[in-house]
Amino acid sequence: MTDDPAVPTRSPREQARARRFAEGYDRMLAGLERRVLADVRRRLLADVRGHVVEIGAGTGANVEHYAAATPVDLVEPLPAMREQALRRVAGRAAGAASMRVLAGRAEALPVPDGVADAVVSTLVLCSVDDVGAALAEVARVLRPGGAFLFLEHERGRGARGWVQSALTPLSVRYAANCHLDRDLGAGLDRAGFEIVDPLVVDAPLAVRLLPDWPLRAGRARLAATACGAASA
Ligand SMILES: C[S@@+](CC[C@H](N)C(=O)[O-])C[C@H]1O[C@@H](n2cnc3c(N)ncnc32)[C@H](O)[C@@H]1O
Repeated sequence: MTDDPAVPTRSPREQARARRFAEGYDRMLAGLERRVLADVRRRLLADVRGHVVEIGAGTGANVEHYAAATPVDLVEPLPAMREQALRRVAGRAAGAASMRVLAGRAEALPVPDGVADAVVSTLVLCSVDDVGAALAEVARVLRPGGAFLFLEHERGRGARGWVQSALTPLSVRYAANCHLDRDLGAGLDRAGFEIVDPLVVDAPLAVRLLPDWPLRAGRARLAATACGAASA
C-alpha cells in the first residue's frame, strides 16, 4: 500500500527508499546544480509565459526560475518531494507567480485538456513508469501550439551507453526509478514531438563517483501531423 493515491502501489521498503532519495536529493545534486543545472534551468525557463504545468517537480528546483509564467502547477507524486517543493513555493519572492503543488503522476496529470501554454520536465522522463503515456498526457494538456520544455539525461553512445544500461537496475532501485539509458529523442519522436529549439548544454550529468551521462535540453512542439491526429 502507498500513503498517497498519486503513487502506484509500492512496497513499504520501496517507499522508504523513495523517501530517503527525496530527502537527500538537493544535497546530492548541490554541486552539479551550482556548476551546470541552475544555468540551464535559468536559460530554459526565463522566457516561458502563461500557464505552466511542471511534471515531476521534485523539491521545486525550478521555482525560482519562473520569471514571467503564471500560474504554475507543480505536479509531483512523492509526498517527501512535495513537502520540500511546498517550502520553496512558500519562500518565493513577493510578487512571484501564482503556484500550486499538486499530487499526481505524469501518466495521469490532474489538469484539464488544453490549458497549458507550456509543460516543463527537468530530469523526469528517466523516472516515469511509461514515457509514452507521460508524453501523451503532455500533449493532452498543452494548448494548440504550446511548448514542451525539457532538460533530461539520455543514453550515451557506445561503451558509455552499455555502462548506463548495466547500472540502470541499481538506479531504478536506489534513485526512485531513474533509468540511465533511455533514448530521449526516440521517445519524443514516437509521441509526435519535434525539437524546435535545442539549448546548448556544455556539461554532462556527473554525480559523485558515477560516470557522466549526456544531458539534452530544449523546446519541443507537437509536429503538425500529431496535432492533426490529436484534434481529429
Ligand atoms: C530526478 S528527480 C527531478 C526533480 C526535479 N524535476 C528537478 O529538476 O530537480 C525525478 C522526479 O520525478 C518524479 N517522478 C517519478 N515518477 C514519476 C511519474 N510517474 N510522474 C511524475 N513524476 C515522477 C520523482 O518523484 C522525482 O521528483
